[in-house]
Amino acid sequence: MGAKEKLRRSLIVTIDGPAGAGKTTISKLLAQRLGYRYMDTGALYRAVAVAAVEARVAADDDAALAELCRGMTLDLRETGEGLRVLLNQKDVTEQIRTPEISMMASAVSARPAVRSFLLDTQRALGAQGGIVAEGRDMGTVVFPQAEAKFFLDADSGIRARRRYEELKMKGAAAPDLETVEREMVQRDHNDSTRPLAPLKAAADALVIDSTHMTPEEVVARMIAHLSAIS
Ligand code: DC
Repeated sequence: MGAKEKLRRSLIVTIDGPAGAGKTTISKLLAQRLGYRYMDTGALYRAVAVAAVEARVAADDDAALAELCRGMTLDLRETGEGLRVLLNQKDVTEQIRTPEISMMASAVSARPAVRSFLLDTQRALGAQGGIVAEGRDMGTVVFPQAEAKFFLDADSGIRARRRYEELKMKGAAAPDLETVEREMVQRDHNDSTRPLAPLKAAADALVIDSTHMTPEEVVARMIAHLSAIS
């Protein structure tokens, strides 16, 4: 781990991109290096997905989703063991990472009630800057005024393999590589073709293809860019 970098200003840094591009690894590393907070917005959509599954709400039932969001509290808490996700005060950090919840998160994230509920939550969490915000629409919708925007991409084969290795490390019930890739391609398609806040690079984002880069190389590239603009 390198030394802390000192930027002249407290920025909102956005990192968008498809599943498995390395956003989480990079965002955590970058936040650490800058002494910034880290916001995983995918975790918020995943927590809403958990709530929907538990309440047996269908992913296309807008009225029920709106009702569900109205009664929900969500929080991201930095702890010694990393970022914890709290849904109605209950820790769901592990529960949100299953393939079932990944697909459900992608489905509920296309619904207007869910997006508008989370828009406020995300803006409140990022309000005072000094934050690295990771997601699909950070630079385009949630923080269009952010000074530093990145779009992180990689070949879909590499992204699937990274996700597969990650799931395998977590437990025996991991699906095979082919299934991981198929579901990832499906999820990317859902996330990029939905009418509301689709996944795309902001016009003023710096696009980085991480296919042949290590996380350290990506972070170094980002810090060089941030030092130049801050
Ligand atoms: O980054 P992730 O895989 O944890 O995100 C889970 C889902 O949430 C993803 O398929 C799309 C959705 N999402 C979104 O629509 N907007 C965001 N800012 C973050 C995630």
